[in-house]
Parts: sequence; structure tokens; C-alpha cells
Amino acid sequence: MARHILSLDQGTTSTRAIVFDEAGRPLRTAAREFRQHYPRAGWVEHDPEDIWRDTQEVIAEVLDDQVVAIGITNQRETIILWDRATGRPLHNAIVWQDRRTADTCEALRQESVEPAVRAKTGLLLDPYFSATKLAWLLDHVEGARARAEAGELAAGTVDSFLLWRLTGGRVHATDVTNAARTLLYDIVRDCWDDDLLRLFRVPRALLPEVRGNAELFGETGLFGRTLPICGMAGDQQAALVGQACFRPGMVKSTYGTGCFLLAHTGDAPVIGEDRLLATPACRIDGERAFAQEGSIFVAGAAVKWLRDKLGLIEAADESATLAAQVADDHGVVLVPAFVGLGAPHWAPHARGLISGLTLDSSAATLVRATLESIAFQTRDLTDAMAERPTAIRIDGGMAANDWFAQFLADMLEVPVERPACTETTALGAAWLAGLASGIWADTAALEGCWSAARRFEPRMDDAHRDRLLSGWRDALQRALL
Ligand code: G3P
Repeated sequence: MARHILSLDQGTTSTRAIVFDEAGRPLRTAAREFRQHYPRAGWVEHDPEDIWRDTQEVIAEVLDDQVVAIGITNQRETIILWDRATGRPLHNAIVWQDRRTADTCEALRQESVEPAVRAKTGLLLDPYFSATKLAWLLDHVEGARARAEAGELAAGTVDSFLLWRLTGGRVHATDVTNAARTLLYDIVRDCWDDDLLRLFRVPRALLPEVRGNAELFGETGLFGRTLPICGMAGDQQAALVGQACFRPGMVKSTYGTGCFLLAHTGDAPVIGEDRLLATPACRIDGERAFAQEGSIFVAGAAVKWLRDKLGLIEAADESATLAAQVADDHGVVLVPAFVGLGAPHWAPHARGLISGLTLDSSAATLVRATLESIAFQTRDLTDAMAERPTAIRIDGGMAANDWFAQFLADMLEVPVERPACTETTALGAAWLAGLASGIWADTAALEGCWSAARRFEPRMDDAHRDRLLSGWRDALQRALL
């Protein structure tokens, strides 16, 4: 009988389940968008019970008799604190986009601890990562710190919370790619680090056990039979796997809520002066691979903003048509610093701006400026990389936008490849679970499953591109002031 894998992709704005066959083809998808909570400016929360409800629904909707394993992939850094006895969260999840701990990070930077933190974690002191958010929960939820120290509470990123729930509270574990985004994990020694736990004031008793990406995490009996959960990775690392970027120098860029560009760097982390992150790419059969990452906080979220807050489009896919209607030298620049700016600027207090408006500027101009800004930001990342990529594999919702893909190739000056299967994040988690359950023998077998559906070659002339990039840099400087 043919074997299928169910991949659960718990993202920032939606929870999806996709069933893949043995050729890596998506067969069925179920998705739910869920509510975002913005209790104050710069704060972003999710209700873990919403995530759990949607998780059960989407799994039940796509599950078939041939599914033999489950893979989980998830929005990273978002942190949940829950009661070990009841499984109930003590507070909403604090989402990776949340900036409430910006001042805590700034204070730690003043203590000159950033170089030591970076050497161990590959990260920087930014509210993006989980540690300061977790400390905030311990300090602000009544009694939480004492209960955490007494071992009554558990904490984890979304993968860990879902694993706990799926296994009926039997397993408190995470995988190395998620652990590495907390600021508490030493990516070189591959373990939680006591100095970091002290620095961020997080009790060890809260934390999950850390495992590789393709192994048995636990079993769920919630869907009428016993199913192993045997693949797990943060969504960006899962996309790197799903793009079959298994060799040093291979690069993918995913355009979801944010944009995350990861370059495979081989079997050791590259922790440089570049304001990019070093992060585990995966650990499979004990073999470690690392990546250099550029994290842009707003990509698809800006298109969602055009739709939901400005009402300029009804659906995301209208953006390509509108952008194509605008003259090339429209002169409007939008800097989507809606939640500060991530790599390579790391400016949590930056705010969005639009410059260059004239009476001629239209809704279409703003739509185009928004799409352009995402390509400009990606260019900032490739400029920050010591070695410029020779080609980039793209995925995520915006990868379907031909206008954007061409503009991206023009800005990056490298070919941009769109794979046959653009459900790359979910595919990566399915591949990891498939490796653990013997459907695929090794990553070489997976490389053979990947193919490009379309390649966009750079074609803009140098003078035009340089003019656009210099307009972007001017506007960016103002957003950073
Ligand atoms: O680091 C945050 C990232 O994992 C979120 O991904 O796909 O929800 O934009 P996404």
C-alpha cells in the first residue's frame, strides 16, 4: 500500500495540514487562519487554544488510511508557558514579532554581553528571540516564576506545545532548530547553556528535551489510531530541507509572513561580523548542518496589510497585476518597518514610512512599492553575506507572484528559481518524517525529488537598478532615525 505523510505547518497567521505521497506531491490541504491579538502597539499574541483547535481540525480533515507518520513545522521563537498538570497555558503565546522586550535587550547590550551571547547562540540581542519573552511571562504572570522553579510549569515554542498536546502530555521535547532560536541554546556544544539560562533568568526545569529533526518524538492516539510524530523543524529550516538545499552555498528565501533567507554553510556555524544569524539547518542521523540566516520581519504581512488595513486589494494575487500597471520610475518608496526592522539592521524601534508621494501616486503605486520593498530588503541581506549567492530558490505565498519573482531577480542580480512544489515548508517537514520512517533513504534521495518549475533571470539594466536601490537606501535611513 502507498504510504502518505501528514505535515502540520503551524505558521504565524494560519495552521495548515498537507498530506504528501511518496513522490513528495501534495494530495490534500486543509487550512485555518486564526486571530492575531495586538494588546498594545508593538505587542503580538496568539491564543494557544486557537492554535490547538485548528491543529486538530486540519489534521482530522486531511488524514487518510495511508498516512503512516506526522511531521511538524512551526513559526519559530513564539513562546508558550503552560501548566504541566493541566496542560493549560498561563498566558497567550508571545509571538516572534512582539517587541515588548526591546528595552530589556537594549539594557543587556549596554552590559556588553552581546558578543558572548552571539558566540554561543549565533543570534543577537533582539526581542525577536524567545528568552526575553519567556522571562517577561515569568515576571508578569502572577506566581509563574516560583511555580517554574518548583518544576510545575513547562515552556516551549509552538512545536513543543503541540507535541505535548498531541501526545497527551507524555512528551516535552523540541528539535534543535527550534531550540536554537530561544537565545538559551549553545549551537556549538548542542545543549541548553547554564550561563545563558542565568543571564536571561530562565529556570532549567521549564525547558524541553532537544532532539534531532528526523526521529521519533512521540505518538498521538487522538485521531482514531496511533500515529508516530517523527519529523520536526522550525518552518524556515523545514523550507531549507524542502528546497533540497543540502549542500554548502545553496540558498533559499521563503516569503511567508516575513521573509527568511537561509544559506547552507556546511557542518559548522559561521558566526561573523555580518549582522546575520548563524543557526542549525538540521540534525539528521546525528549529522549536523548549519545555515546563515537573514530574517526580515515583514514580507507577506505587508501584502496582508494592503488587503486588510488599507483595502487596496481584495486578494493577494491582485498585487502582481496592479504592480505591472505602474511606471518603472514612480519614485515612491515604502519601508515596511511595521514591527521594527530585522536583519541586517536590527532596529526594534524603527517604524514604517512611505516617501516620494505625488498627486499621481495611486493605490497601484503603493501596491507596487510594497512588493518592491520586499525585494529591496532581500537585497540588503545578500549584500550583508560574505559570499553572494549564485542562485536563490524561493517559496512561500509570494513566490507565486511572477512580477515579484522577476523584480527580485533584477534586484539580487542572480537567477531566482521557483520549485515545482511551492509547499516547501510543509514538504520539508514531510521529508523529515519520511526519512525517519524509512520512506526515503537519505537526503540524496530527496535531492532527486526537487525540480524547478520556473527560473527568473535578472534582466534590468545596471543604471535603473542602482537608481531604485539608492532610493530605497535613502528612505531606509529615514526609517532608522
Ligand atoms: O522566525 C519566524 C518564522 O519562523 C515565521 O515564519 O512563515 O510564519 O513567516 P512565517
